[in-house]
Amino acid sequence: MQNDLERVLFDEATIHGRLDELAAEISAEYHDRELTVIAILNGSLIFMADLLRRIPLPLKLDCLSVASYHGGVETSGEVFFRQVALPDIEGRHVLLLDDILDSGGTITAIREKLSTAAPRSVRICVLLQKKKTRRRPVDADYVGFEIEDEFVVGYGLDYMERYRNLSCIGVLRKELITP
Ligand code: IMP
Ligand code: MG
Repeated sequence: MQNDLERVLFDEATIHGRLDELAAEISAEYHDRELTVIAILNGSLIFMADLLRRIPLPLKLDCLSVASYHGGVETSGEVFFRQVALPDIEGRHVLLLDDILDSGGTITAIREKLSTAAPRSVRICVLLQKKKTRRRPVDADYVGFEIEDEFVVGYGLDYMERYRNLSCIGVLRKELITP
């Protein structure tokens, strides 16, 4: 798998070091609040597991499964919710976790949908944020790393469902991407 990378952006130690900082920030801000973490599947699974074990607060965890990519590298713009019922977040402080903020379509759609369930607050935490202009600007409250607008895989992120189990994050070799 590692041979399919053009270059490594963040190795495991670098990711874990940044998670220590993010977790400290989140723990300080939520220490007196009822926190519900909602992880967006499947991309945020590994990030979520490593981040939450660094947050020593009582919290609830839920997951949401959405699809927007359909296997390619370009977003379709449409977001499909795979479950009908939303998690019970009435009166809760919600922290949404996702792998990457690209066009922002996914996070925007999820935030709008969750706001119908009367949470006290909703904040957004992403591991990666691509530097680009977005049609609808989205402000993530916590960002692990800012990256250029390139297609990356590993540490939860996939190309056609592969590479999620790479322990580092890297840029996929262009010739492996089918147009
Ligand atoms: P959005 O364009 O911000 O809605 O991003 C939608 C989803 O596309 C993310 O949650 C990822 O699952 C996926 N995605 C966006 N950019 C990349 C990338 O560079 N590598 C792998 N997946 C990506
Ligand atoms: Mg994906």
